[in-house]
Amino acid sequence: MSPFHISRRGFLRASAVISAGAALPAWFEAQAADAPRPRVPLSPNDRPAIALIGCGGMGRGDAKNASRFGDIVALCDVDATRLEAAGKDYPNAKRYSDFRECVQHPGLHVVINGTPDHWHTFINLTAIKAGKDIYSEKPLTLCIDEGKRLVKAVRAAGTVLQTGSQQRSDKRFRLAIELVRNGRLGALKHITSSIPMGQHGGPFASSPVPAGFDWNTWQGQTVSVPYVKERGHGSFRYWWDYSAGTLTDWGAHHNDIAIWGTGLPLAEAGPVAIGGHGLRDPVPGGYSFPSTFFVSYRYANGVTHTCRTVQTEGPGGNVIDPKTPPGQMPNGVLFEGNDGWVFVSRGTIVASDPAILQEPLTNKTWSAYDSNDHMGNFFDCLRSRKAPAAEAEIGHRSVSVCHLGAIAIRLGRPLHWDPVKQQFPGDKEANGWLTREQRKEFSYAALGI
Ligand SMILES: NC(=O)c1ccc[n+]([C@@H]2O[C@H](COP(=O)([O-])OP(=O)(O)OC[C@H]3O[C@@H](n4cnc5c(N)ncnc54)[C@H](O)[C@@H]3O)[C@@H](O)[C@H]2O)c1
Repeated sequence: MSPFHISRRGFLRASAVISAGAALPAWFEAQAADAPRPRVPLSPNDRPAIALIGCGGMGRGDAKNASRFGDIVALCDVDATRLEAAGKDYPNAKRYSDFRECVQHPGLHVVINGTPDHWHTFINLTAIKAGKDIYSEKPLTLCIDEGKRLVKAVRAAGTVLQTGSQQRSDKRFRLAIELVRNGRLGALKHITSSIPMGQHGGPFASSPVPAGFDWNTWQGQTVSVPYVKERGHGSFRYWWDYSAGTLTDWGAHHNDIAIWGTGLPLAEAGPVAIGGHGLRDPVPGGYSFPSTFFVSYRYANGVTHTCRTVQTEGPGGNVIDPKTPPGQMPNGVLFEGNDGWVFVSRGTIVASDPAILQEPLTNKTWSAYDSNDHMGNFFDCLRSRKAPAAEAEIGHRSVSVCHLGAIAIRLGRPLHWDPVKQQFPGDKEANGWLTREQRKEFSYAALGI
């Protein structure tokens, strides 16, 4: 029986038994302790030179995390205020406003891409061309065609690219996937990814562009509109033009876990049927992606998958909130099989029966990639030249699941998808959404990529 069908008290009882203090089973901890540790640099000369492009909250967090392994030598942003603020953390780093100049910084090894979604691919392709390795924030792309291009370019250049889908290096998520893929739940039937609601609001008025902010460049390939604060820093993700709401924002995390759990080979990882709709109409002139939505998927192996917004979020959106009404799950991913269920989120893993977690997995046929430190794994791969835990194709395939849901919402009808050819068979209208119209000034051709 799934937690959607059991009482709130029953679910909490299971949680209390299995996940109090969010402790992991001893057998899994012992296995994780054997995992290779990221290599610690041996000398000052061994520290890679890093550029941060996009100095917002996430970019700066990534830069701080990366500075355990290398040196931040360059910073780039199109907002002078943000550049200056980041410069206080790294006073010796050279400051740039143009990412094309930044990737040419002498002696540079690594680019951290912390820009908004609509800039990720352009900057990643430019960095690849300049011979740099990349830690790029998720969602990796703005549309599926960008992902295809990126994967091709990464392969051709031998680039190490880590997608910022850090749940791939989180022990709880890895445990959940090992249980699912080694048959602990019996045959996998259904996956639910519950993600936070987006923003609903508007209409919003335009205002003068803040001093030092290059709004034209910030908009990049997207349609040029007068400056509206709510379209810019941080809240860009709630607009179709720059993203697809929390479907691509949180979906890039939880749908990544979902497709990992399906067990499909990466080159076939994607649904064959998709349906979806928004649950609340956006306000004209306001945030344009629906704040709440429901998307359903079916995979070629018969597994079904629902991705939906959580109607009532717990504090922080990630934790089991005792106030969550019966029948509603907190933010996370639920796997249901013939023999039970497991629910995993950040800091929490619970199952329908304690034995599902506590019994060691003997005779495993499949093991999750050994990484407990997502940034550390990236720097380790710089030296080994192995594929990192969330390599480019993983980032591309995961966000493609989200893009497919967004296209179904946009078109308001069911869709059929060929995950191998990465096309909607015989559906010209839907195939038209695999790309986005680019402003001439910021097209691939104009930027030479
Ligand atoms: N991995 C995670 O858990 C996680 C969490 C939060 C955000 N993110 C991702 O990180 C990215 C950034 O999110 P944020 O909340 O920090 O956004 P933000 O809007 O606060 O910051 C983005 C920064 O990039 C700059 N920028 C835009 N275009 C640029 C360009 N062409 N060149 C240089 N700089 C440019 C902006 O001026 C801004 O300072 C998003 O894609 C988001 O999805 C990931």
